[in-house]
Amino acid sequence: MLFKQQALLRQKLFVLGSLAIGSLLYLVARVGSLDRLQPLCPIDGRFGPRSQDEIPLRALQFKRGLLHEFRKGNATKEQIRLHNLVQQLPKAIIIGVRKGGTRALLEMLNLHPAVVKASQEIHFFDNDENYAKGIEWYRKKMPFSYPHQITIEKSPAYFITEEVPERIYKMNSSIKLLIIVREPTTRAISDYTQVLEGKERKNKTYYKFEKLAIDPNTCEVNTKYKAVRTSIYTKHLERWLKYFPIEQFHIVDGDRLITEPLPELQLVEKFLNLPPRISQYNLYFNVTRGFYCLRFNIVFNKCLAGSKGRIHPEVDTSVITKLRKFFHPFNQKFYQITGRTFNWP
Ligand code: A3P
Repeated sequence: MLFKQQALLRQKLFVLGSLAIGSLLYLVARVGSLDRLQPLCPIDGRFGPRSQDEIPLRALQFKRGLLHEFRKGNATKEQIRLHNLVQQLPKAIIIGVRKGGTRALLEMLNLHPAVVKASQEIHFFDNDENYAKGIEWYRKKMPFSYPHQITIEKSPAYFITEEVPERIYKMNSSIKLLIIVREPTTRAISDYTQVLEGKERKNKTYYKFEKLAIDPNTCEVNTKYKAVRTSIYTKHLERWLKYFPIEQFHIVDGDRLITEPLPELQLVEKFLNLPPRISQYNLYFNVTRGFYCLRFNIVFNKCLAGSKGRIHPEVDTSVITKLRKFFHPFNQKFYQITGRTFNWP
């Protein structure tokens, strides 16, 4: 009997002890993660404009959960007002270059709690029909965000379209402009691969890259071929420089973004005056995919769509050499203007 009572007492003590330790551990964890858990965003609408250094960063989980609902259009007007959400014109635009890694850059920047991306390419400034709809139409295409956040959109066609610099200037002459570039010949082949895939999907035949890139009459590089023209970065940039000083541009190394994304993203954070918040935790290499993928939190991660990271067709080496030789002087000029040098051949 006495033995039974002692065993019962021991059991009770064990349960109480476990509860006490559990509560203590919970408290420690809670205090340690308060910073992370508390939504630092202006949900009560008290926030006014702040200096960039004071950006109140929210937990990534919070951003994913709540903002996602608003983005899906599930929010009522009352919720939008209550949470002080707004649709803001972009403070920064990824203007190009097509196939440079524009999607990867946008998605990776969106890991930052103070950044909100416009998911679709809006093509406001390069499409006359859209542009005619006016700036309010453009703003309404933007995602909901908190006032302290910055909205970023990407439309790579902006970089090569004649009218765009002036139109963007008219909207915001101090906007920040991001250009992501890759080694020009590789970019041109990537561009060709995308078009080729489109043709194949429609059961159409298409020319070989060599035939498009080299003029059969002169055996010189065919500068009329769009994929070649787009890779002459300096020509396009010079048009932009008629409106914006070089300080308003940041050049991202698209080849490095593939192999080593974090340092490239950190340079962008700096350029955008954002506190460094994207970390190695947010980026993990997916062996199956062969690319870095994104980790938002313990449960939510994603890789880019399969259309990003296509296998390029094999191209005649003499054509590659010819193209590289052709791009070389333009690349030199590009380094000189931008102050960023690449190891392009
Ligand atoms: P390839 O398909 O030639 O490999 P854009 O988004 O401007 O169209 O650029 C597409 C390119 O982004 C792809 O070109 C791919 O190499 C590159 N890229 C960079 N980082 C990537 C990533 N993490 N996942 C997939 N593709 C990435």
